[in-house]
Amino acid sequence: MSVSAARWAWVEVDTDAVRHNVAHLLSLVAPSEVWAVVKAAGYGHGAVHVARAAIAGGATGLCVALVQEGVHLREAGVDAPILILSEQPPSQATDIVCHGLTATVTSDVGLTSLNSAAIDTGVVADVHVKVDTGMHRAGVDPNNAIDLVSAVSVASNLALAGVFTHFACADEPGHEANARQLATFNSVIDGIRAAGIDPGRVHAANSAAALAMPDARFDMVRTGIVTYGLVPGAGVANHCGDFIPAMAVKARVSAVRTIEAGDAVSYGLRRAVKRKSTIATVPLGYADGVPRGVWATSQEVLVRGQRCPIAGTVTMDQLMVDVSECDGVQVGDVVTLIGADGDDAISASEWAASIGTIDYEIVCGISNRMERRYL
Ligand SMILES: Cc1ncc(COP(=O)(O)O)c(C=O)c1O
Repeated sequence: MSVSAARWAWVEVDTDAVRHNVAHLLSLVAPSEVWAVVKAAGYGHGAVHVARAAIAGGATGLCVALVQEGVHLREAGVDAPILILSEQPPSQATDIVCHGLTATVTSDVGLTSLNSAAIDTGVVADVHVKVDTGMHRAGVDPNNAIDLVSAVSVASNLALAGVFTHFACADEPGHEANARQLATFNSVIDGIRAAGIDPGRVHAANSAAALAMPDARFDMVRTGIVTYGLVPGAGVANHCGDFIPAMAVKARVSAVRTIEAGDAVSYGLRRAVKRKSTIATVPLGYADGVPRGVWATSQEVLVRGQRCPIAGTVTMDQLMVDVSECDGVQVGDVVTLIGADGDDAISASEWAASIGTIDYEIVCGISNRMERRYL
């Protein structure tokens, strides 16, 4: 059922920022290509809009986690190469090849099911082989990688289009595992070439590695978080100055009331105010992706360009803000939870730090109840 007027809580996505971020990254990593990672609905920003903006910024390919995510992009008319970042169930092989998605293969079962689906569909399907060089999440063991790559290269209906790996600690540039993973990967690639096989596009770097590990850029980088102007982790924050955050989270004040000294607000009445205070209710909550924990750290939001703390536990659909220090707050005023207002800005990183998580979890957690408005 649709309604005729918008809810008083929404997300703004600045697609120009995405385009800028990709173009800026490309200027840093060229001649390596940039493939934008748009899984998880473009990290909460909206996959199709982000994909188009990333391509406008110079991305030559896209990466997703799920077959459904790739199909969604194809159905929206996105025709760039789309790599699915890990092997998918054999039952989805036909969907992969029918939609011209590029599969990741890490096992003989994966290879066989894709080749059969490609034979049945009458196509030759592009495949990348992923090597587990030390993260131990997904990928073929390095000792078996050359055999798997050889098998792909001779499969009747598969084309070896790439070989890749993924770092466990790229956001800690000094971590000894990075050099170890890189050395293992290089020796696998050398072995593939020594066997007379062209590995296609060689790639390893996520955002952090693309920025901080030049030796890991190879033919292309697979970058998610910096595409959205966010920070992969504290260890590489110094590389992130020229990226622009693309997401803002906003709402309008739905009620204003005065409470007396000693009163408290929200479930549990947890934190009494020390003096007579003005409290604004804001109609979004943890069902929209505002982590419940941000109240405990008195996370601030911006009202009329001024910082005001969250005053009590975040509820499912609403939260309360102490606006005592901000003059004249009225119903309908815009509240900026993430984003800029006046001279100040609150970042997803600030929220993440406040509750001990990472930027990724904040933006991916903004739920579908929140309308995305594209600027
Ligand atoms: C295999 C792989 N490559 C690249 C990325 C992109 O990572 P980032 O968002 O840190 O750039 C991810 C994200 O989780 C991933 O799983």
